[in-house]
Amino acid sequence: MSVPGGGQRTSLHGFWSSRLAFILAVTGSAVGLGNIWKFPYMTGEYGGSAFVLVYLGAVLLVGLPIMMSEILIGRRGRRNPVTTMRLLGQEESGSSQWQWVGALGIMGGFLILSFYGVIAGWTVAYVFEAARGAFAGAGAAEIDARFSALEGSALRTGFWHTLFMLLTILIVARGVERGLEQAVRVMVPGLLVIMVVLLVYAAGTGAFGQAAEFMFRPDFSALDGTVILAALGQAFFSLSIGMACVMAYGAYLPQDASIGRTSLAVVAADTSIALLAGMVIFPIVFANGLDPADGIGLVFKTLPIAFGSMGGGVLIGMLFFLLLSFAALTSAISLMEPTVAWVMESRGVNRGVAATIVGVLIWLLGFATVFSFNLLQDFRFLRGTLFANIDFLTSNIMLPLGGLLVTLFAGWFMSSNSTSGELDPQAGTGYQLWRILVRWVTPAAVIIVFLNSIGLLDLA
Ligand code: PFF
Repeated sequence: MSVPGGGQRTSLHGFWSSRLAFILAVTGSAVGLGNIWKFPYMTGEYGGSAFVLVYLGAVLLVGLPIMMSEILIGRRGRRNPVTTMRLLGQEESGSSQWQWVGALGIMGGFLILSFYGVIAGWTVAYVFEAARGAFAGAGAAEIDARFSALEGSALRTGFWHTLFMLLTILIVARGVERGLEQAVRVMVPGLLVIMVVLLVYAAGTGAFGQAAEFMFRPDFSALDGTVILAALGQAFFSLSIGMACVMAYGAYLPQDASIGRTSLAVVAADTSIALLAGMVIFPIVFANGLDPADGIGLVFKTLPIAFGSMGGGVLIGMLFFLLLSFAALTSAISLMEPTVAWVMESRGVNRGVAATIVGVLIWLLGFATVFSFNLLQDFRFLRGTLFANIDFLTSNIMLPLGGLLVTLFAGWFMSSNSTSGELDPQAGTGYQLWRILVRWVTPAAVIIVFLNSIGLLDLA
C-alpha cells in the first residue's frame, strides 16, 4: 500500500496528526526523569563540567545522527521495530538477522521501564507531599529524612510504582494519537514555565555563580573512561535512542515531514531542559551546603527546600512534581510502545490486551528496583544493587550497542538512495554531513568509548 510522498508501506497503527504532533511526542519521550532527575545527579557524581561537556559532545556527534537514523528506518519500515529491522535488513542487505537490533531495543525498553516506573512513582508521591504542605519551612535534614522514609518503605514505594504503571497501561491501551498528543501539548510548555520560575528562585540563592562554574567551567581533571561512558550512556537515555523507541514512533510519521529539522528540534529541547534542571538544582545544593554527589535522591532532597521556603511554594511544588510525573508518563508510554506494537503485530491481539500483558510483566520486574532501596539494599554485586545493575546494563551497554548497530545499518547497509529518499533530498550538505557522521564519526566514537571502558584502550 502506498502513502502520500512515495513510501511503500503504511502504518498499521495510524499516523501522528502533524509534524508538530510528532515533535511533541518524541520530545515527550525524550524529556523525562532523564533530564530532571538523572542528568543533575550524574553531573554531581561525575564531577560537574567534565561530564557536562562530554555530554554535549555526545548529544551532537552521536545522539543527533542516531536519532535521525532511527526515525528514517522506522518510517521506511512502518512496522514494529523487530519487523521493521527484518524487512529493511532483507531489502537492503539480504539478511533478516537485523531483526535482533529491534529485539535488543524491545528488551531495553522493558528493562528501563521496570526501574523508570519506580522513580516516577516517587514523583507522583511527591505531588501529594507537596500538596499537603509537607515541605513548608522544612530544613535540609528534615527533607532528607522524608525521602529516606519513602525509599526505605517497600510498601510505599511499591504502591506508587503500581499506580504509575497502571496509568501507563491505561494510556498505551487507549492508543497513541488520542491520549498522548493531548498530554504533551500541555506538559512540555508547562514544565518549561515552572522551570523558569524555579530558575528565578535559584538565581536568588546567591550560589548561582558557583553552580555555573561547577557545570560549565572547563576542568577535565575528573575526566576518565568512566565519565565518558556515563556521559554517552546518559545521552542515549535522555534522547530515548538506542532502544528502538524513536524507531517505533517514526513508523507513524507522515511521509512529508522533515526528519532532520524534527530531530534538531527534539535534541535542542531535550538538552535545554537538562541544562536548565542543573542550573535550578545546583544553586540550591550549594546554597544549602548539600553534597552535589548525593546520588539518585538529589532532586527529591533539593527542590523541596526551595518549595518549602518560597512564597506560593505549596502550589509551585505541587505543580512541579505533577508536571514531572507527566513528563515521566509520556516517556514511559514510549518505553512500552515498541513492545506493545510488536506483541500486537506478531500475536494478533488487540492493543488493550497487549498493553496489559506487557505492562503487568514490567510491573512485576519493577519490584527488583523497589526492593533495591529497602529489603534488598544490601544485596550487591558487580555495580551495586539490582537497580544499579539494570541501570548500568541498559544505559551503558544495551543502548550504546543498539545505537551503534542502527548507525552501522543506516550508514553502511542501507543504500544512499533509500536514506536520501527518507531524509530531505533538498538538504544536500546536510545529507552529506549526516552520512559522514553515521558512517564514520558516530560508530567510531561509540566503539572507542566501549573499548576504553572494558580496558582494551586507555584514554585516560
Ligand atoms: N528519555 C527518557 C528520559 O530522559 O526520561 C527516558 C527514556 C524514554 C529512555 C524512552 C529511553 C526510551 F526509549
